[in-house]
Amino acid sequence: MPTTPTLGDRTLALQWPDGETIDLHYIWLRDNCPCPECKHPDAWERLLDNVEIDLDVKPESASFDEFLDITWQDGHKTSMSAAWLQANRYGREGRDSRREKPVLWTSSIAKDPPRISLGEIDSGDKGLRRWLTLVRDYGFAIVTGVPTRVGAVIELANRIAHIQETHFGREFQVISKPDPENLAFTSVKLTAHTDVVNRRNLPGLQFLHCIEFEAEGGDSILVDGFEAARRLREQHPDMHDLLASVEVPYLFLDNGHDVRNHQRVIVLDGDGNHEEVRVHSALLGAVDLDPELIEPFYQAWQVFGNILRDPELEYEFKMEPGDCQVFDNRRVLHARAEFDPNTGPRHLQGTYVERDDFMSKLRVLERVNNEFRLS
Ligand SMILES: [Fe+2]
Repeated sequence: MPTTPTLGDRTLALQWPDGETIDLHYIWLRDNCPCPECKHPDAWERLLDNVEIDLDVKPESASFDEFLDITWQDGHKTSMSAAWLQANRYGREGRDSRREKPVLWTSSIAKDPPRISLGEIDSGDKGLRRWLTLVRDYGFAIVTGVPTRVGAVIELANRIAHIQETHFGREFQVISKPDPENLAFTSVKLTAHTDVVNRRNLPGLQFLHCIEFEAEGGDSILVDGFEAARRLREQHPDMHDLLASVEVPYLFLDNGHDVRNHQRVIVLDGDGNHEEVRVHSALLGAVDLDPELIEPFYQAWQVFGNILRDPELEYEFKMEPGDCQVFDNRRVLHARAEFDPNTGPRHLQGTYVERDDFMSKLRVLERVNNEFRLS
């Protein structure tokens, strides 16, 4: 049943079938006109120069059914689907409906950890989508049945996208060896950390593939950084806000590299939701905050560090040859228990993929019957 939107001075009021009324600004409606003159039908990009839109643009008339049809005062016609309007609502509620909703977890995830076989991933788009959905929601998934040879991890990552290179190159091998240039290549315990925090664009997804593992010890540990940050915010809001507002130096140095940046330990989105947790004790440079913040920073850093090391938050497991951990390096921290390199070989190969490329792949897989969300 078509209804007539109420035309106000700067906005029109639409009534949804459930009775709810929303106000939409004329400038926003005009800017988002999907007609082929305003938006390129193949490139899906805006042709309309929105710097030139009259800020006082107004409709001559409007009607609303499955489409909101507007005739503007200059005669231009806009027709937007109700589904598109619903999917693209602005304001906090609209943003909340579109943002990722991480499923927070603790050590009890060990009862039923997100796992998927390579066979299922390769069975078609449905399998691939289930894998990526697990990684999006839980921040990680263990892929089983990956061939135990060097290079297989690159092929697995390439099912999502191209590799995100870092100063470690396209891939890295984790084998205990003498004269290590990085602590990962030793057999000592590694506390929970985010990889490569020293880079502004830190790696998105990390892949760690177990090729050979006969050594004693060396369990893998994953920790949900968002759950840890949630606990810090609940227990010590002032410390949480300090780590989310000040920037500290992170750096990586070797004979050929000096990659450094100032970063926040906890990164929030514009609405205050956790977006990234960047913690790596070994890469923290000489903190150069203002003097009155030095002690509060170390206090907050230690309290947060202890939450991240709380066994209640740790998912601890032993990797088997053929397993590949795939985790969101911006959310899930990884650690490794000490192992004895004399009891047998331990060989992992790792690589990274950009988080944007991972999410893009998943959104495209979800796109079926969802074309109204485009733009
Ligand atoms: Fe690491």
